[in-house]
Amino acid sequence: MDHKNENNNAVNNFQKSADIDSSFENFREHSVAEFFKKNKQMLGFSGKVRSLTTIIHEYVTNSLDAAEERNILPEIIVKIQELEKNERYLVTVEDNAGGIPKEFLGKALGKILAGTKFHRFMQARGQQGIGAAGCTMFSYITTGKPIKAISKFKDYVVEAEISIDINQNEPIIKILREDAISENEKSGLCVIAEFAEVKYEESSYGVLEYLKRTSLVNPHLEILFLDPENKKHLFPRSSNIIPKRAQEVQPHPLGLNAHDIYELIKKDNQHRNVESTLINSLARFSKAKAIEIQQMLDFDLKIRKEDFTWEHANKLVNAIKKVKWIAPSLDSVVPIGKEQLEKAILNILNPQHYAITEREPKVYRGGIPFVVECAIAYANIQDNNKKDLVDATTQTKNGQKKAEVMRFANRVPLLFDAGNCAITEAVKSIDWKRYNIDNFEEQPITVIVNVSSVFIPYTGAGKQSISAEEEIVNEIRFALMENARNLQRFLSGRRREQEILSKKKVLYRYVEQLAKDISELSGKNNYNELKKKLEELIEKRYLQSNNVELSEEEIMEIEKELERTENQSEVKKQKKLFDEESIEE
Ligand SMILES: Nc1ncnc2c1ncn2[C@@H]1O[C@H](COP(=O)(O)OP(=O)(O)O)[C@@H](O)[C@H]1O
Ligand SMILES: [Mg+2]
Repeated sequence: MDHKNENNNAVNNFQKSADIDSSFENFREHSVAEFFKKNKQMLGFSGKVRSLTTIIHEYVTNSLDAAEERNILPEIIVKIQELEKNERYLVTVEDNAGGIPKEFLGKALGKILAGTKFHRFMQARGQQGIGAAGCTMFSYITTGKPIKAISKFKDYVVEAEISIDINQNEPIIKILREDAISENEKSGLCVIAEFAEVKYEESSYGVLEYLKRTSLVNPHLEILFLDPENKKHLFPRSSNIIPKRAQEVQPHPLGLNAHDIYELIKKDNQHRNVESTLINSLARFSKAKAIEIQQMLDFDLKIRKEDFTWEHANKLVNAIKKVKWIAPSLDSVVPIGKEQLEKAILNILNPQHYAITEREPKVYRGGIPFVVECAIAYANIQDNNKKDLVDATTQTKNGQKKAEVMRFANRVPLLFDAGNCAITEAVKSIDWKRYNIDNFEEQPITVIVNVSSVFIPYTGAGKQSISAEEEIVNEIRFALMENARNLQRFLSGRRREQEILSKKKVLYRYVEQLAKDISELSGKNNYNELKKKLEELIEKRYLQSNNVELSEEEIMEIEKELERTENQSEVKKQKKLFDEESIEE
């Protein structure tokens, strides 16, 4: 390498470092709203049909959460109008769930990552605080317009236009009207928003299917849906029982990592030392447990929070893993319940047969409780009166239904991203042939799985699939197997019944001829008596189908008699043939 080259390199290197410096002139901070604007597919805004379903999903789940929290039987009206036939829609969602106070209205609907749910350890449909505000942003970026919200809270009503300052992630709110609520008005929220880049379609990913499935797992809900053609779809309530309100619970030690514990200690201003924080803020962390854990630590649990380091937190997590814990309390998980699910299945699917399994609550990742419910419905019967409520999308061309899997998390239908979901994985892992169900995909079977938990491990911010945690997949598998066994019993029972029916039919065909022949042969002229006796024999032979068990001896006796009569008829048949032949000769 000569000097000249060396010099060039030095110049190049100098220029490079100058470039690096100047490239930092572009260093910027971004708001979370900007991030989600760029990555709107993460919120479920990808594809026109999916985007519209996402919008309805966000508003409806918010209404349901608010109603549940306030112990209200939810009534929701969803209206979608197409504006000027160019895939621009006006969406209205109105509920009776209590509304939002004026001072929170802007942030609730116009600031991403703001809400009442994220910070609580409590089962709800919403978790992150990005749903409603995400819709406001999507409305704004596709139409340039604010949304309109009418909130009737307690004794007043506010009407406001709300938009979002994407650079700051701050709401822009313009109050249009403020009034006292009139006497017969119910409190609640109504959102009216315009969207482009969306499309209404009646498919298995569409709004109608979404609402149908929502009503299936929320029997206490009444939804009226007005579609763009102004068709009314009413999903009536099938139960007046409001689901038990989910309890806010303390986190279980096994569900926490070092950072969680570190934060917990540092943020606690109420307790004197680390030990008392742990005892007071964690589930199942008793004084006795603290003593047990202390023996495994090389620092004193009673240190002040100021002296507590990340290293301490790490040691604590390791010690926590080594002791035995009582499972977390299950008050925090609220499943649909067998009875409620049954009502809804009968009301909406109207199947020939169904089976429901509610598993005991379990824990995943050591400390997060969840519960799995599963139902299998077989051969849903179309009821023309409920045409709107019946799934039209799974009908194949020849009218035969195909198998479908309805996935739910905390009673919210998951229509998208089925591929990497714990529920899909569990369904796929079942050896359906073992239950005499060949070609599962082609059977008229509807599988319904609902996973309830304080913390559903979604695979993405769009919350459309549940991460395949081993414990969750296993629970779903067990529930599915139980239902599959039940379905197998039903199907084999039905098969046997059909076999018996066709056998009986064959035998009945012989009765008259046989009675006639025997009566003639014996010369006793007792045709009627014989016919009756033979019919009785057949009925007796197949009494099992009416659940009357015959003894072994009885069965043998009947079989012998049948054999005898069959032999006689054989004799007669041959005699007849012989006669006919002789006539021909
Ligand atoms: N229909 C509604 N009724 C009452 N409160 C609502 C309603 N919709 C939204 N909110 C409030 O707005 C907050 C933000 O909603 P959202 O952005 O969807 O986030 P999340 O549902 O995840 O909390 C909610 O936490 C709730 O407090
Ligand atoms: Mg929400």
